[in-house]
Amino acid sequence: MLYALLGGLLGVAWLGWPGLLPGLALRAHAHLMLVGFVGMMIFGIALHVLPRFTGRALLSERLADASFALANLGLPVMVIGWLFGSMEAARLGGVLLWAAFLAFAVNVIGTVRPWARR
Ligand code: HEM
Ligand code: HEM
Repeated sequence: MLYALLGGLLGVAWLGWPGLLPGLALRAHAHLMLVGFVGMMIFGIALHVLPRFTGRALLSERLADASFALANLGLPVMVIGWLFGSMEAARLGGVLLWAAFLAFAVNVIGTVRPWARR
């Protein structure tokens, strides 16, 4: 929810003071909203409901913790990089964020196990 509030504030500031924010502020807004708000909501809800829908235990709580930590490290670093014009920071944040998605993907696929029989 914090990402939604920050992303919304960035959008409002963009509307209110055109020209004040750097050009990549919209990219930061888009990712705060889409990854921070929508993505984190999906991470949380998916890891909660998928074991219940499938009747199988979550593959790994440690992997879930890792995706949460990596995403909440990677997204702020990437967004700060874009806002302050540091492409090195944006790149580092992007790699950490991708690692979060990788950990999430392994956890989801390992929990749902589409290849397994009931
Ligand atoms: C408080 C709510 C929001 C405000 C005030 C807001 C404001 C804005 C503004 C002013 C733009 C730029 C439009 C333009 O001139 O091109 C924009 C673009 C965008 N917004 Fe929002 N927005 C809000 C919520 C959201 C949400 C909830 C999402 C997604 C879940 C979202 C995703 C995007 C995306 C993907 C773009 C395009 C970015 C780009 O062109 O680089 N926004 N928003
Ligand atoms: C590992 C995670 C991610 C990384 C490293 C990343 C990186 C980027 C980069 C570098 C761009 C700019 C591309 C260009 O030069 O035009 C971009 C654009 C965009 N991304 Fe992502 N992204 C990630 C995840 C996501 C996710 C999960 C969503 C949606 C749910 C998303 C939505 C968008 C949108 C809508 C744009 C175009 C808007 C804009 O450029 O401002 N991204 N992303």
